[in-house]
Amino acid sequence: MPVVVVVGAQWGDEGKGKVVDLYAERADMVVRYGGGANAGHTLVIGGDKVVTHLVPSGILHQRVKCVLGDGMVIDPTTLLEEIAALRARGLCGDGQLLISSRAHVILDYHRWLEAVREEQKGAIGTTRRGIGPAYESKAARRGVRVGDLGRPARLRELVAQNLDEITPLLLAAGRPAPGRAEIDRVIDGALAAGEKLAPMIGDAGRLVDRAIAGGENVLFEGAQGTLLDIDHGTYPFVTSSSTIAGGACTGVGVGPTRIDRVIGISKAYCTRVGGGPFPTEMEEATAEAWRHAGQEFGATTGRPRRCGWLDAAALRLAVRVNGLDGIALTKLDVVRGRGPVKVCVGYRLDGATLDEPPADGEDLLRAEPEYIELPGWDVESRGARTIDDLPAAARTYMSTLERLIGAPMWLVSVGADRADTILLRDPFAG
Ligand code: IMP
Repeated sequence: MPVVVVVGAQWGDEGKGKVVDLYAERADMVVRYGGGANAGHTLVIGGDKVVTHLVPSGILHQRVKCVLGDGMVIDPTTLLEEIAALRARGLCGDGQLLISSRAHVILDYHRWLEAVREEQKGAIGTTRRGIGPAYESKAARRGVRVGDLGRPARLRELVAQNLDEITPLLLAAGRPAPGRAEIDRVIDGALAAGEKLAPMIGDAGRLVDRAIAGGENVLFEGAQGTLLDIDHGTYPFVTSSSTIAGGACTGVGVGPTRIDRVIGISKAYCTRVGGGPFPTEMEEATAEAWRHAGQEFGATTGRPRRCGWLDAAALRLAVRVNGLDGIALTKLDVVRGRGPVKVCVGYRLDGATLDEPPADGEDLLRAEPEYIELPGWDVESRGARTIDDLPAAARTYMSTLERLIGAPMWLVSVGADRADTILLRDPFAG
């Protein structure tokens, strides 16, 4: 019956895939509400690894309906590849996946434009999946929507209009203007993808609303993380969508009163990919050890992730802007054997103490984190199935975090396997 939103509480890559997979066992429907193929989950299917960028990991549970919501930006080629990879393994059967006709489409010219931007001053180290330019087209009201893939005349007109605007930018950056053959390839590719996807395209918002009204357990799966949110993140080093819990309402088409619970996912330390302020970033030698212990390499781009100490001040912002009921703490096992651990409790800036990251990026770059240091632990915690199985220092680490951010733990992950999880509170319990 409950409607649960799961959001990243940091800079993305918090381990949402595993938590969504676990919660999906109790869900009837899993819905993505924002972003696109900039996200990535590595799914293990019968010993095989499959990386999905668009399809929610709930797809592994055959009775769970999966929905790509209105607020997403969808690259039809990537989506078709994912569907094919899942179907080759007997997953993603007919009727299991619904794609919103209102979601926007990423086409080649979005990636061309992004490649140009990422070579210019002001580059932020994006995933180069065309995400930002697709949201630009949407905000400029020139976007191609999934529903347009079945309307050839409108699609041609929109593509021509977009290329008229983008071509001078490509030329100014020394790139060739797309020729007729290339333009036809973009349009024909989009139309062909539209034909294949047609049986899965529909009114996602109404479907989700009906499921909620019918008492189903619905899980909204956030992408990226709170600090990459276009409004509340470390602007301009952010993604282009509303990653926070409120984004679930705008990105699906359900009202805020429908949402019962919001769970924030946080790693037991911090990582960030791409540029931008990262106050608790470790010095490289320490980061390197944590990166290898935590296998911190991007699922989408393979980039090594920057590593840092847990930032309770940043998590306080996540608790506030998402209205978090609880935290799912992941990768606690990675902390083992790494010596004493630091936790940032606030920042000093111009003589003042801040308990949340400041709004301005340059202020955040100048802010000095204030740390407390807690004892680490050497005892293996992977087999832990209750809190009492954890070493005392790990329990202290968690209770200190709860106290610092004002939100309780609902789940603790102590290893990559599903079984390596301590479920403290079930978000779907009445
Ligand atoms: P974009 O979303 O590709 O436009 O990238 C904007 C910023 O968000 C860059 O710093 C990316 O590295 C970051 N980013 C986007 N998606 C993810 C994600 O799923 N995990 C972590 N970082 C991400």
